[in-house]
Amino acid sequence: MKELLANLKTQALVEIEKAKDSDALYQVQVKYLGRKGELTNLMHGLANLSKEEKPLFGKLCNEIKVALEGAFEAKKQSLSSSEIEDKLKNSWIDVTAPGQTFETGHIHPLSQVQYDVEQIFSSMGFAIMDGPEIESEYYNFEGLNIPSWHPARDMQDTFFVKDEGHGNDSAAKKKHGRLVLRTQTSPVQVRTMEKYGAPLRVIVPGRVFRNEATDASHEHTFNQVEGLLIDKNISLADLKGVMQEFLTRLFGREMKVRFRPGYFPFVEPGIELDMSCTLCGEKGCRVCKHTGWMEFMGAGMVHPNVLKAGGIDSKKFQGWAFGFGLTRLTMMKYGIDDIRHLGGGDLRFLEQF
Ligand code: FA5
Repeated sequence: MKELLANLKTQALVEIEKAKDSDALYQVQVKYLGRKGELTNLMHGLANLSKEEKPLFGKLCNEIKVALEGAFEAKKQSLSSSEIEDKLKNSWIDVTAPGQTFETGHIHPLSQVQYDVEQIFSSMGFAIMDGPEIESEYYNFEGLNIPSWHPARDMQDTFFVKDEGHGNDSAAKKKHGRLVLRTQTSPVQVRTMEKYGAPLRVIVPGRVFRNEATDASHEHTFNQVEGLLIDKNISLADLKGVMQEFLTRLFGREMKVRFRPGYFPFVEPGIELDMSCTLCGEKGCRVCKHTGWMEFMGAGMVHPNVLKAGGIDSKKFQGWAFGFGLTRLTMMKYGIDDIRHLGGGDLRFLEQF
């Protein structure tokens, strides 16, 4: 029995050593230590031994069992680490390679300022509206009290679209005229009045287009924000208060502004608002044309003809409208000294924000 156990131990240790992978090792483990394994069978046979032999061989069997279990465990460890190494060697994933970085974009400064503007005006109860960039002559001009013969049309030299729109509907064609790339966000005034009536409190951010010679403060494609407030007992004093609150919140400090008379056919009276040039601190630079002031916004009390075009009774309601240059506001906010950077798409510029 003693010899049998010694041979079994030696044989098992040789087979454990020879096992090439964890599957083979498992088979060896079952062969010797499994429920019907060779050592297990021998241990069951202890019951047939004499009283004197039983404890002697029982002890020996246990020692061999512990020794084999230890050998199995040690081999298992060494196999699994070399298997992982093999897997890593043969795998196409190199876990030690540095991670890949992906280029992520970020919000354009113009959009950032637009979100800020929307947030401030929303908190003052203004709804945010949208309108088409390809607009009818009617909404861009006639509806705003600018008939075709009016010299004010020359103030905003226009891009016309070849397709006149409206198909064969001659009545619509007559009313709406040609299609234009809108020169201002003001057409949305009449559209909103038609749709929602009075009272109204909206802003309309959007892109506009003009046949314009470009310079540091003029683009052919730029963004405006229209504002329209229609209610009872409204005056320009409300507009002044709203604009002062808006600019103070946007810039985080009180901004210097000035109001002066301005002419727009769709308001009466009309005003313009300039803000002190933040680029030169009012000393004068090429952006503010050496005046220290940046022309920022046109505004005024909505003309009765425009209220009429929007279906609103001018005897019951009145209100004001404004249109400011969002692109110019972005320049003032971030200290950008040429408007053309904003639409240029140059990453060296954009990555600074
Ligand atoms: C208008 O467009 C009027 N619709 C504004 C208005 C609305 C008046 C409601 C009354 C009532 P104006 O052409 O001045 O007005 O343009 C308004 C603002 O847009 C300007 O003050 C300026 O900030 C900006 N702007 C005008 N032209 C350009 C341009 N070529 N490039 C960049 N910004 C411009």
